[in-house]
Amino acid sequence: MSKAEPLLRVDNIKKNFGPVEALRGVTFDVYPGEVVALLGDNGAGKSTLVKIIAGNQQATGGSMLFDGKPVHFDSPADAKAVGIETVYQDLSLCPNIDVVGNFFMGRELCRKILGIDVLDETRMQIETEKAIRDLGSRIPSVRTRVELLSGGQRQAIELARFVYWGGKMVMLDEPFAALGVEQTRRGLEMIDRVRKLGIAVIVITHNMLHAFQVADRVVVLRHGVVAGDHDTTKTTPEEVVAMITGEFARQAAG
Ligand SMILES: Nc1ncnc2c1ncn2[C@@H]1O[C@H](COP(=O)(O)OP(=O)(O)O)[C@@H](O)[C@H]1O
Ligand SMILES: [Mg+2]
Repeated sequence: MSKAEPLLRVDNIKKNFGPVEALRGVTFDVYPGEVVALLGDNGAGKSTLVKIIAGNQQATGGSMLFDGKPVHFDSPADAKAVGIETVYQDLSLCPNIDVVGNFFMGRELCRKILGIDVLDETRMQIETEKAIRDLGSRIPSVRTRVELLSGGQRQAIELARFVYWGGKMVMLDEPFAALGVEQTRRGLEMIDRVRKLGIAVIVITHNMLHAFQVADRVVVLRHGVVAGDHDTTKTTPEEVVAMITGEFARQAAG
């Protein structure tokens, strides 16, 4: 597979929390339209890494390139401005507002009536319905308040909103942890559709089956460094488990 320039280059990223070295120099690339599964044991540094890439936390060392340019994110808004977002189930939607309202919050569409701007509710509703449908998700009515929807539906809304507004790389931290079988299947399908739009995806998961089902590549973190970075076609779940536990490195050394 001939690869273009990486969309994201993470170079020797370090993060200390006081004496705790959560990340000890993490380096990896993510390409456009690629799904990377980020794996590792509890405490390996996965969430910290995703938070740094999303601007929620700041690295203590190292650098990042996005779209070929050096980037430094002081806040999630900085990351969002270049097209990087994390999709959560709850945090970034307003529960007491309907789906359309969440979709267009702060970016409402208007039309002019007698020279006065009024909200174009019809168009916003049509665009929201289309964006959600395009990702293969179904929400009975986009006029439903978000608090009445399931976790899977909320993720679908966030993901569709991200795509609609021109996002380039999306990160999901344990997206299926609280979902049932059917919703998880839909979630995996959605990731595949997002990838086909040329968007890069980083997904943290503990589920090896999901990782091999949806990802082009697995990146394994262990004790704050990359312990493995392989195309899913060139490794196996057993090998990846060995990378997560450190058994792989011991075998290689011994
Ligand atoms: N806000 C924080 N303050 C102090 N230590 C933290 C903080 N966040 C994470 N850590 C520590 O950093 C390490 C990596 O954590 P984390 O990134 O959450 O790992 P993972 O998501 O892979 O389980 C752990 O040792 C954890 O205790
Ligand atoms: Mg975590």
